[in-house]
Amino acid sequence: MEIDPGRQRRLGDGETADVVDAVINSRKSFRRFLDRPVERRVIEQILQVSGRAPSGTNMQPWHVNVIAGKTKRDLSAALLEAHHNAAEQHESDYSYYPDSFSEPYRSRRKKVGLDLYGLLGIEKGDVEKMKTQHGRNFMFFDAPIGLIFTIDRELKIGSWLDYGMFLQNIMIAARARGLDTCPQAAFAKYHRIIRDHLDIATDQIVVCGMSLGYADLTAVENHLETQRQPVGEFTRFFDL
Ligand SMILES: Cc1cc2nc3c(=O)[nH]c(=O)nc-3n(C[C@H](O)[C@H](O)[C@H](O)COP(=O)(O)O)c2cc1C
Repeated sequence: MEIDPGRQRRLGDGETADVVDAVINSRKSFRRFLDRPVERRVIEQILQVSGRAPSGTNMQPWHVNVIAGKTKRDLSAALLEAHHNAAEQHESDYSYYPDSFSEPYRSRRKKVGLDLYGLLGIEKGDVEKMKTQHGRNFMFFDAPIGLIFTIDRELKIGSWLDYGMFLQNIMIAARARGLDTCPQAAFAKYHRIIRDHLDIATDQIVVCGMSLGYADLTAVENHLETQRQPVGEFTRFFDL
C-alpha cells in the first residue's frame, strides 16, 4: 500500500508547533453561533481527518449523525419541549458525572457555571432563567450544524477513551477551518427522543452532541474564558 508522503513528513520545526498550539489554544466552547451555513464538503473533510484518531486495536468506535435544516429544527423543538415539560421523565443511558462532587472538581464546576451565568446576568438561584439558558443546548446554540455521536452499547470504557480523541480531533479540525464548536453532554439525557427522530438503534448509546458553526463573537456568553491548571499541578516527573 502506498504511504501518503504528507504523513511521513517530520514536523519537528518550531513553526509547526506554534501553529498547532495556536489552533489548540484557540478552541473553546461557544454558546451562540451566527446564522452562517457550513458546507457539507467541509464537514466531510473535518470528519475524515478526525477519523485518523487512534483507537485500541483500530476499532474506530464512533458513529456520527450530522443534522441541519428541518431535521435539526424538528429535533430541537422536541428536545426543548421535553426539557421544559417532561425533564423528569428522561434519563441518560450512562453517567457522565458522579452523583456527588468532591474537591477540586466541585469548585471548578461551580466556577464555570457561576462565570457563565454571571456574564448572562443570571442571578444565583434564578432557576427559571438557568433552565432557559440550559435549554439553549437543545437549539445547538443556534449553530447551523448539529452533531450527535453514538457508540455501540457493548463496547467498554477503552472505546470511550478513543471516542474522546475523535471528538477533540473534530473540534481542532473545525478550528483550523475557522469554525467553532461546543461539545454537549446535555443531549445524552434525551436519547429516547433523539433515537426516534434520527432512527438510532437501541444497541447504540447517545454519547453527546456538538454544535458546529461560526461563533457570534459579539455574544456575551462567548466571552467566557475558562482557566486551566499549570503542568506542575497535575504532573509528577521522575528522573528528569
Ligand atoms: C464531553 C463534554 C460535554 C460537555 N457538555 C456540555 C454541555 O452539555 N453544555 C455546555 O454548555 N457545555 C458543555 N461542555 C463544555 C464544557 O463546559 C467546557 O469544555 C469547559 O467548561 C471548558 O471550557 P472550554 O471548552 O471553553 O475550554 C462539555 C464539554 C465536554 C468535553
